[in-house]
Amino acid sequence: MTPAERAAALAALQQEIREDCASPLAAAATQAVPGEGPLDPLLMLVGEQPGDEEDRAGRPFVGPAGRLLDRALAEAGIERGALYVTNAVKHFKFVQTGRRRLHQRPDAGDIAHYRPFLVREIALVNPHRVLALGATAAQAILRSRASIASLRGGEQQVDGRPVRVTIHPSYLLRLRGEPATREAEFARFVRDLERAAR
Ligand code: URA
Repeated sequence: MTPAERAAALAALQQEIREDCASPLAAAATQAVPGEGPLDPLLMLVGEQPGDEEDRAGRPFVGPAGRLLDRALAEAGIERGALYVTNAVKHFKFVQTGRRRLHQRPDAGDIAHYRPFLVREIALVNPHRVLALGATAAQAILRSRASIASLRGGEQQVDGRPVRVTIHPSYLLRLRGEPATREAEFARFVRDLERAAR
């Protein structure tokens, strides 16, 4: 496929994702959130699923986790616009409690439903390397339930492409305790981004 044909195929896939209503999550969500970014990037980031703000905006990583990711990318000297950013699951999964929509972790069925979209998205975008952010993305890409702790720091090949794994930025948002510990965890995340983008 020429780059122009790939760009057209990716736009068609993104439209297919927007029109997908076969998942039970689609009915409750505002809209599907496909990935965004250039073709053939050095790095593709794969998160878990859109959150509340992403669901409303229709764009990945624009809420609190996205702002933290942006800060980490800036610290790593990586321009976000040079990356392709997407999610393993394309609709926000939540429970409504009063006016709040509380995030719910996708289950194996959700991951399996969206996996074919993700596999096609990766093939069409053709990143040099993929970085899975958190357990859901790791499970979707590697088809493994191994812990983040055991996968972090290593590199695996999936369809001939290097895949690395790190934490999800929302893990850093949830961290309590000493500021020094939180700073050390943030610095480790920045190092993972730097290594993946090398
Ligand atoms: N968390 C994710 O995994 N993806 C987003 O797009 C936002 C928050």
